[in-house]
This record gives sequence, structure tokens and C-alpha cells, in this order.
Amino acid sequence: MALASCAPGDDRPFNATEEARRAADAAQQTATSETDAIATEAEVDAWTKGAMVAAADPRAVEAGLEMLRQGGSAIDAAIAVHAVLGLVEPQSSGIGGGAFMVYYDRDADEITVFDGREVAPASTTPNHFMKGGKPLGFLEAWQSGKAVGVPGQIALYKTSHEAAGKLDWATLFQPAIKLAEDGFEVSPRLAGLLANPRLRGAVRLDDLPASADYFYPNGEPLPVGFIRTNPDYAATLSAIAESGPSAFYEGEIAQAIVDAVNSDANPGAMNLEDLADYSVKIRPALCGDRADGYRICSAPPPSSGGVTQNMIMGLYDLLEPTEEADMTEENYLKAFIDAQRLAYADRDHYVADSDFVTVPATDLINPAYLRVRAKEAFAPDATTHPGDPGLALGRDPVRPLWGEDATEHGPGTTHISIVDADGNAVSMTATVEAAFGSSIMVKGFMLNNELTDFSRQPAKGTKPVANAPGPKKRPRSSMSPTLVFDPAGDLFMVTGSPGGNSIVAYVSKTLVGVLEWGKSAQEAIDLPNIIARGDTVGVEIDRPGGMEAADALRELGYNVEEREGENSGLHVIIVREDGLEGGADPRREGIAKALE
Ligand code: DON
Repeated sequence: MALASCAPGDDRPFNATEEARRAADAAQQTATSETDAIATEAEVDAWTKGAMVAAADPRAVEAGLEMLRQGGSAIDAAIAVHAVLGLVEPQSSGIGGGAFMVYYDRDADEITVFDGREVAPASTTPNHFMKGGKPLGFLEAWQSGKAVGVPGQIALYKTSHEAAGKLDWATLFQPAIKLAEDGFEVSPRLAGLLANPRLRGAVRLDDLPASADYFYPNGEPLPVGFIRTNPDYAATLSAIAESGPSAFYEGEIAQAIVDAVNSDANPGAMNLEDLADYSVKIRPALCGDRADGYRICSAPPPSSGGVTQNMIMGLYDLLEPTEEADMTEENYLKAFIDAQRLAYADRDHYVADSDFVTVPATDLINPAYLRVRAKEAFAPDATTHPGDPGLALGRDPVRPLWGEDATEHGPGTTHISIVDADGNAVSMTATVEAAFGSSIMVKGFMLNNELTDFSRQPAKGTKPVANAPGPKKRPRSSMSPTLVFDPAGDLFMVTGSPGGNSIVAYVSKTLVGVLEWGKSAQEAIDLPNIIARGDTVGVEIDRPGGMEAADALRELGYNVEEREGENSGLHVIIVREDGLEGGADPRREGIAKALE
């Protein structure tokens, strides 16, 4: 069956192109004037498709469903889900980290991005990770107080709740507080990570006293099924539930964060003002329109989501075979690989915090640029390099403005997809960066090590790197929380994943899988992961179809790196004619569950 799982087949359950065309025609016929396009409350049809939560742990999903049952919105549910994940999946995210949330308000027909990304303390210089003229080693930088950014998660909870929460603020924390007080069962994945000798060698969980006491009682890793209470987390959440974000960003908890960061063996320089000053940025989503009428919206810089997902899908359209004789499974796969390689090279060069550097985000997804860029597709064995949207669009070159990127990444993130009973949607990817972040535990939660998402080397030769560290700057993220709208402008898909740099490839696999290859949410998630960044193509060979894909790509001349144990955590919801269809990544422990 070779690559049958990686390309369109005759039995596809959903013919994206035809359905898109039909819907586009219908939309064109009805939208006759500008006023028709503006939805008023009376014009918005009642939502009849139901509600759903997809996330990395059933207990977190249940907390979200409980909020929906109480009449809560997608944002209420997302906060409750995430507060539970911070307890049961502390390796991936928590209130000591940050997130990007893309929110769709169906009534207002508006998409808002809440950027709760961690911020570098005001004392940060471009040489933050340099020592004696050289960048600190990755592990040394990664496991340090220096790597801790000012957490954005609690501020994101508050700002998004103020925008579209329906339930009481304090209600959102009750499931997590109860579970932290009663104790939760340690899952196989958490226990497996704690016992993993490679991870133990790389992180400091069993060295730092608070983390060691919590995760290694009596020196042994928490086993599967152990009932772990976390009274400190319950107390922290109770304070936040009662007093709001000031309980976190000021006073005792803020002081504990500052003390932990600054007293680390490799200390940071964070102060109380850094915490008190944190604010969420509300940004417009970065959206691109596809030729078939679908619209892909994701987070703008410093997230890579909007740029990469639109680039990959736009380039795929230009690179996919058009002649009948070329329409082989290998060539469809090749188009996806080549689109990824081009997009990753551009993302690596240009995407950074757009409040500090000029990121040509809209140029990168401009169809005129993509037409030029598609012609630059690299030979399978060629070295990749960024394009120049300035030159391609007839303006001054922009590529020489920046030195070559030198950013590296490791594992620790989660993705939540929610559609509520009114058809509003949340796509939120949250992170502490590494597994268990910096390994520093404060008041029942893990502090992130997000600042290693900056390029540790601030310049290449005489050129600054766009993603160099800087005071109050936000490090670039691969997180790509994404929403897709159909040609009639209605919500079609909610998707996103953890996985460091590979997030870009994982999320685009669900887009190409569903929109181009006619897969269901689960089928798209189950496809082997294929990551084409730089000069190698990583292929997940321990999944059905993976080895066949690796062989086919080798045959085409790509430098294939066979991979096992891929770390995607895709959670997808698709709005179908007859209701919501969910999918959860079998590589993690999550589920997608509808509200009954
Ligand atoms: O924001 C980022 O791009 C990274 N901190 C994400 C790290 C990650 O996804 C690790 N995942 N498993």
C-alpha cells in the first residue's frame, strides 16, 4: 500500500476541493453587498453542531466539559482545562509558563490572538547567553535561572476571561484545586518521563530540593498510579481564584519566583517589577486565503503559526502535481516536503518578536511571494536557505538585514482545542519549553525555561540575529494554534500541537491531511510525522506508513533521518455537516470528547 496513508485516495471521506468550490459559489451568490458580510446578532444562525474539548489528559478534558455544562464559554473551558493540565501534566505546561490562544467569537465573527508569551526581564541584553565570547552550551543555558522568562499564563487567563468569559473567575479553578487537594493518579507518561535515565541526566528535577521532594519522594520516581497531592498548587490557585492575577504577579508568589530564579546556580536577574509589568498582547490573527476559499488563521509573530501554516499550504498548492502522469503518492508527499523546507528556512530567518524587529509576516504569506518562492524549491540534496520577500515583491532586499538563525529547542508543551455550545472556538498551545521547564518548582508549579527559545548567539558576523535576546522581548515560538474557516466564512477546523520546532510540521500535516488529502481528524493525526527542516527530512518510522514514506523519500534523493518516539500532541476538532468530529494524538494521553 506504499504511501496510501499520505496522499489523496478515491475513498476520501471528504472531497475538500469539490466541497470548497460548491461552498465558494454559494457564498459568492449570497454575499452581494458589504452589509451582507457583516453579521449582526439577529443574522447569526443558532449553533447546532454541539460542543467539544480536545486536550492532553482526560481529567483536564472533563474539567473543560464541566465548565461548558455550567454554561461556560470556550475560554472558561480552556482555563479550567489548562489549570488541570498544570497539575497532571506538569512536564508540558503550567502557570509558570506561557501560551498563545487564538479565539473565535462566532457572534461577532471576530478572531483574537491573546499573546501570553513569556517576556525577558528588563535586565536582559543580547549577550544574555554568551560567556567569554561564546554561547553557553545548550544544556547549561537550558537548565538555569537565566532561561526563565516572566510567565504569561495567568495574565492570559485573565485577559481572555475578561474578553469572553461567562462563568465566575473563581469557578474556573475549582476542578484543579480539588484534584490538587484530593490527589491525582500519576499517568504512565508522567511516570515514564520521571524514570527515564536520559531525561534525568539532562534536567535537574532530582537535584533541586522542591522538585526532588515532589517528583522523587524517598529518591524514587513517582510510579504509575501513585496518588500525588499538591497542596502548594491548590493554595496558589486558591489565591489566584480569590484575588486575581495580582496574587501571582505581586506579593508572596512573585517574590518566591524572583528568589528561585536569582538564587539558581546559574542565576537570572528577574525582579518584582518584571512580574508586575507583565501584560498580555492582544494581536490580530495572521490569516491567509487559499485558492479553494478556505482561510487559515493562526498566531502572528513572535509565534511562527500564521507565517508557517499559510506558507506551507500556499506553497503546497503551487508545488503539487498538475499533470495526470505526475499525480503519484510520492509526488504529493514531495510537494509537502518541499513546501516545509522553504517555509522553515524563511521562518528561521525572519520570525521573531515583531514589537522589536521588523518581521515581513504579511509579505511571507503573500501569494505573489509564494509564487517566486515555490520556484526556489530546493533539490532534495541541496542546502536550504531563506528567500527574500523584499526582492521578490520588487522592493529593497530584506534577507541581508539579519544574520543566520542559531536558535535550538527541546521538548515541554501542550495543545487544547475547544468548540463551545455557541460555536465559539479556542485553539491554545501552552508551554514551559523543556520537559518540566527549568526544573525549578515554586509554590507547586514549574518555572519555564522559555528564554532558550531566543538565539543564544545574538549575531552572525556583523549581522544581528532577528531572534536575539533583548529586554522585555518575547522569544520566537514554533507554537501554531490554528483555526480554519470554510469558503462561507464558517469555522471549519481547530488544530495545534506541541513538539518544539517540529510543531510547524505536525500542525501542517493535519492541514494538508484534512484539506488536501480528505482525511478525518483522527486519520490526519495518525499519519506518520514528517519534518522537513534544513537539510534532512525526519520521518517517523514507527507508525503505519512511516517506513514506506522513508523509503520513497530516500529514493527521491532526500537525506532521510529515521525517527522513533515522535512527540507530537495534536488535538483537532472539525466542524462537519452533521456535527463535530474530534481527534487526539495517540502519541500522548489525550482525548477529544463531545459535550453530551
Ligand atoms: O514555543 C516554542 O516554540 C517552544 N518553547 C515549544 C517547546 C515544545 O513544544 C516542546 N514540546 N514538546
